[in-house]
Amino acid sequence: MSSKFSKAYKQAHELSLKDPEAFWGEAAKSLHWTKPWEQVLDVSQSPHGRWFVGGELNTCYNALDRHVEDGRAEQVALIYDSPVTGNRVVKLSYRELRDLTARFAGVLASRGVGKGDRVLIYMPMIPETVIAMLACARIGAIHSVVFGGFAANELAVRIDDAKPNVIVTASCGIEINRVIPYMPLLNDGIGIAVFKPTTVIIVQREQCIAQLTNDRELDWSEAMSSAKPADCVPVKATDPLYILYTSGTTGLPKGVVRDNGGHAVALNWSMSTIYGMEAGDVYWAASDVGWVVGHSYIVYGPLLKGCTTILYEGKPVGTPDAGAFWRVIADHGVKALFTAPTAFRAIKKEDPDGKLMQDYDLSKFETLFLAGERTDPDTLAWAERQLKVPVIDHWWQTETGWSIAANHMGYGLLPVKPGSPTMPAPGWDLQVLDSQGNSMPAGEVGALCTKLPMAPGSLLTLWNAHERFIESYMAEFPGYYKTADAGYIDEDGYVFVMSRTDDIINVAGHRLSTGAMEEVLASHADVAECAVIGVADQLKGQLPVGFLVLKAGVERPEQDIVADVVKLVRDKIGPVAAFKQAVVVQRLPKTRSGKILRGTMQKIADNEEYRLPATIDDPAILGEIDTALQRLGLSKSR
Ligand code: COA
Ligand code: AMP
Repeated sequence: MSSKFSKAYKQAHELSLKDPEAFWGEAAKSLHWTKPWEQVLDVSQSPHGRWFVGGELNTCYNALDRHVEDGRAEQVALIYDSPVTGNRVVKLSYRELRDLTARFAGVLASRGVGKGDRVLIYMPMIPETVIAMLACARIGAIHSVVFGGFAANELAVRIDDAKPNVIVTASCGIEINRVIPYMPLLNDGIGIAVFKPTTVIIVQREQCIAQLTNDRELDWSEAMSSAKPADCVPVKATDPLYILYTSGTTGLPKGVVRDNGGHAVALNWSMSTIYGMEAGDVYWAASDVGWVVGHSYIVYGPLLKGCTTILYEGKPVGTPDAGAFWRVIADHGVKALFTAPTAFRAIKKEDPDGKLMQDYDLSKFETLFLAGERTDPDTLAWAERQLKVPVIDHWWQTETGWSIAANHMGYGLLPVKPGSPTMPAPGWDLQVLDSQGNSMPAGEVGALCTKLPMAPGSLLTLWNAHERFIESYMAEFPGYYKTADAGYIDEDGYVFVMSRTDDIINVAGHRLSTGAMEEVLASHADVAECAVIGVADQLKGQLPVGFLVLKAGVERPEQDIVADVVKLVRDKIGPVAAFKQAVVVQRLPKTRSGKILRGTMQKIADNEEYRLPATIDDPAILGEIDTALQRLGLSKSR
């Protein structure tokens, strides 16, 4: 480890914990505040912390107008690159993006949207999505973006929780070459929801024109043509910027609420310190705006920093081939790419020797960042070998909004340890705790928790569910934020994130709740009991597998019932759940108190060592589970 560089990291990390006010107060100076803060950090009301209390700013102003006024008006702010629409490329300068955003903010304002009102955005990866998000920020409204791969039912749950008077959508999304009309999904979602929006604004895409059928529907272009631009409205640093729903342990998603001030400060700071980016650089997060990575690093982070951001409507493979990422990097002079390891596994599978890379000039490309799931050492080694640039694994969550652990470009890179996202980022006092809340020795696995307060940019609360917020994150280990990840810190201080401690699984970098899937399976008329586990998968990291115990007397063929439940999960949760495998069993393994032993089932499926739980009711059932997994071709133990 280079001592000079490790010293820079160490000093920054120590200062951030010893004197957070000085550390983050300094970082906040790079932004424009309409009213200075009175206190950098306030822990008096909530121990997890409120940042920049008393201060006022506007996130959209800082992401757009500030750069226009500071001489970046003609710099490209956003490049929309869309192989799924015949390689369409649209470039918007900071001035153009600001003007379109101001105009759409005017559209929203004309429909009665103001400070604190919620706007739901159900849209594909098109520029209007970014414009809609920033327009909300401009007038102090709270956006809630819903990922396009969710079904109507999930939309309905979010509509009822966020109660948005306005929904912004598009006529369709495009999955490689499949056009997915959004209006039927949206109308079903609105139909199921108890709360009804008053306005739906629709971007018409030529691949599928939606018929506007009622008074609440408004065509985006028409509305824009007559709109008056709206100005930025100052909001409190602690006012919500957005709600982003993420999987919890039940079918009811958690509405993560992000503030304006701490969020802008942390993201702006992270762009240079973690990602090594400066204003004018081209940054690409190949994710989706529906996920936190998209919020933080397609939209807010790069624009706050004055970078050019890329909005890519395509996949790593199939649009048209496994050279797609290299084509985008070369075409737009990308300096840093951020994606999920699963994307690299998909590329590696199709082009194991990286032959397609040779067709492109990657000379401007400097760093690859991976997150969303653990970067497995094979994928890390392959990416390093092919790209010959640093490959950086970093660990974070929807809740934190940015890294808990990373290798920081701005402090000089520390040596990489495969399987580790390196060291805790400034602001995070990361500890490994046992079930009693005691610190674990180096190298021993426990609950990864961070000492309160949380770093700026972390969630403020859960929307409409402050008690759930406290209960989910702060109750089990008083004085700490529970990440719900298990792992260890080694003797050099490197963090290793091994698994979740709850029922969340990670499928192709997407966070999904097995509990939510179980709720859907249990609703099937033939199912008496069920369990869903995540089984290791070479491409997607994990895949969900369902176990069904049927009601007495059910005699329908297994394959029909399995087909039913697969369709049910797709219809109720959405295709993104990637739920395609289920099997009928006679019984489920349980403890004597009736708790299903999902962890043990998963270990059998993944051929991992496991200890027979002392409280198991009937160990013979584990053999039956193994046999069922073998029928699916999943168990390796024989
Ligand atoms: N709208 C509608 N459907 C969607 C969707 C969207 N926005 N996104 C995904 N889906 C569908 C897919 O078409 C697929 O449907 P299918 O079952 O009919 O094939 C299903 O949801 C599962 O999607 P996914 O798990 O993404 O699988 P995939 O085979 O389409 O692609 C990868 C696999 C690895 C190429 C892709 O997941 C990927 O690029 N992931 C890495 C990047 C990323 O998004 N990371 C997120 C956090 S950083
Ligand atoms: P999400 O909220 O969708 O971003 O998912 C967060 C979860 O993904 C974390 O709690 C981890 O379980 C997992 N995760 C994200 N990044 C990493 C990483 N770099 N290493 C290990 N796990 C990760």
